[in-house]
Amino acid sequence: MNGVVTFDEAPPAGTINLGIGQPSADLLRVDLLREASEAFFNHAHPFDLNYGAQAGDERFLEALAGYLSGGYKATVSPDSLFLTAGSSQGLDFVSTVFGNSGDTVFVEEPSYFLAFQILRDHGLRLVGVPVDDDGMRTDALEELLKEHDPTLVYVIPSYHNPGGHCMSHQRRARLMELGRQHGFLIVADEVYQLLHYHEEPPPAFGTMIDCDTVLSLGSFSKILAPGMRLGWIQGGPGLRKRLLENGFVSSGGSINHYASHIVRHAIDLGLLEELVRELRATYRDRVEVMQESLEAHLGHLATWQRPRGGYFFWLRFDESIDTAAFLDKARELQTGFQAGSLFSCDGRLGNYLRLSFAHYDEDDIREGVARMGRVFA
Ligand SMILES: Cc1ncc(COP(=O)(O)O)c(C=O)c1O
Repeated sequence: MNGVVTFDEAPPAGTINLGIGQPSADLLRVDLLREASEAFFNHAHPFDLNYGAQAGDERFLEALAGYLSGGYKATVSPDSLFLTAGSSQGLDFVSTVFGNSGDTVFVEEPSYFLAFQILRDHGLRLVGVPVDDDGMRTDALEELLKEHDPTLVYVIPSYHNPGGHCMSHQRRARLMELGRQHGFLIVADEVYQLLHYHEEPPPAFGTMIDCDTVLSLGSFSKILAPGMRLGWIQGGPGLRKRLLENGFVSSGGSINHYASHIVRHAIDLGLLEELVRELRATYRDRVEVMQESLEAHLGHLATWQRPRGGYFFWLRFDESIDTAAFLDKARELQTGFQAGSLFSCDGRLGNYLRLSFAHYDEDDIREGVARMGRVFA
């Protein structure tokens, strides 16, 4: 099992596993989706249950474009959007359309471990690029470009998983320049872009898609419910055309037509906006609780940056510590975390670990972090 918490595996009763990066039950709003579903069924046309347009239902894309224009503070056109079954499916699809087995993909070191698996499923070869508090180090990227010719560069620009940091304006601009010069496609996984708890993050790559060197992956998993399996890819006309020419959508039409109707109503009724406001307030408070608890219980052993959005704290221990070696003790003490080496494409970063505040309320976070203090005592 490798300490990985899978999506269908609930932790044993009494365990507070801070490795789980999924929302707590109180944030998964059945009532909200009931209201949106009723609005859909009250107005549904039988053809709403047909395959649906390949890029996604026009009414959904318009609602999403309106929502993103508000969230990104920039005009998002419905014509730049392509519906997906979430960011993971979006990445899988981009790998199918733009990658060829044996191609090189640059990923951040660290990065989202399940993205590694998706990219490797396509025979893509991963090369890690170091990050710092300003995101992917574009100076290190430039050095690596002397040796490698990547097809894709996969980044998580805002409220990184696991790092929690945001890529700076300057790094975003430099990455775009390098993409144009070297002809690689930037795949920006922007699933946390709208989950900011203080100031707004730098502009999404989704607002820089004009030049056909970048695709932005978005998702309703973090701002509504993972189970909707709904997300989007945002891209310029050339790239979007290539997505539309794919056999899978030619045969199957819209990737998740039904869920898109429900989410369209959630947007049109203002329910999504209200929920995201609530999520920001709840997560902001949880960050504060986790920060205080960490200072009390692990402050003498680890360092970290307090996240300003997203789901994660990324803790750095002394180089001599391999956090994976503490997973059994964590289990015994009824807690849990994700070991750092999971987030390295070549098994490094063993002296780090990731904690999430998404799955537990404030009391559980206090107790879970206190247990973590005992694990590393
Ligand atoms: C960076 C990143 N990308 C993608 C996902 C999964 O997104 P989705 O549920 O839309 O497939 C996650 C969830 O943890 C994530 O952290």
